[in-house]
Amino acid sequence: MCLSHSARVTLHHIEARRSIRSFTDRPVSQEDLLTVLRAANQAPSAHNQQSWRFSVLRGKRKQELATLVNARAGEFPRAAAVLLRMAARSINSAPVVVVVANTGALIDHGTKLFQIDKPLAQDFFKTMEIQSSAAAIQNLLVAATSLGLATVWLGILFLIKDDVLRLMGEREGEFMAVIPVGYEAKPGIAPKKIDFEMMVSWLD
Ligand SMILES: Cc1cc2nc3c(=O)[nH]c(=O)nc-3n(C[C@H](O)[C@H](O)[C@H](O)COP(=O)(O)O)c2cc1C
Repeated sequence: MCLSHSARVTLHHIEARRSIRSFTDRPVSQEDLLTVLRAANQAPSAHNQQSWRFSVLRGKRKQELATLVNARAGEFPRAAAVLLRMAARSINSAPVVVVVANTGALIDHGTKLFQIDKPLAQDFFKTMEIQSSAAAIQNLLVAATSLGLATVWLGILFLIKDDVLRLMGEREGEFMAVIPVGYEAKPGIAPKKIDFEMMVSWLD
């Protein structure tokens, strides 16, 4: 197959992205941070509502998050507690952390526009908000990879989402993800992926 240079570069970054959980203390430049946030904001979103918010935590605020995650880890059964403590270590070691929340703007917009059964509308547009933000997060992760930055999508913090949102100052929002960003302390090991052919049905 003959691919253009830009296609090869894009596909390379998609494949090269790894979840990295431990970071060096090398800082991330403001320019690089703006680049990944701009890429996130370019994602497709239902009704083009861009119903996401990004909070960039550094310094004292980032440390507060790591302390909070550690403090609350003990309240959960072992498997969750282990993952929360791992997440706290990642947050601690990364120079910067991006927290992603959904704003609810799409839920309000869609519920008014469609005038369908309210619980159905809530379910529908909440799902659309999650899907839109997931696209934004993936853009952020791949853009970071293209700049030589390492990331990990931490979903486990959903377990303490109200505290996380409070720390971000997002009272209305819905938790989506916490993403430490930095330079990898050691290269990530590529986990084995099920071949895409196993996931595809060709229906003619
Ligand atoms: C929705 C979502 C939630 C995740 N939550 C966590 C998490 O809480 N902690 C963690 O270490 N990794 C988390 N990950 C990263 C996955 O473990 C990782 O993507 C997977 O093992 C495949 O590795 P790769 O990203 O290097 O391809 C999450 C990934 C996704 C998409």
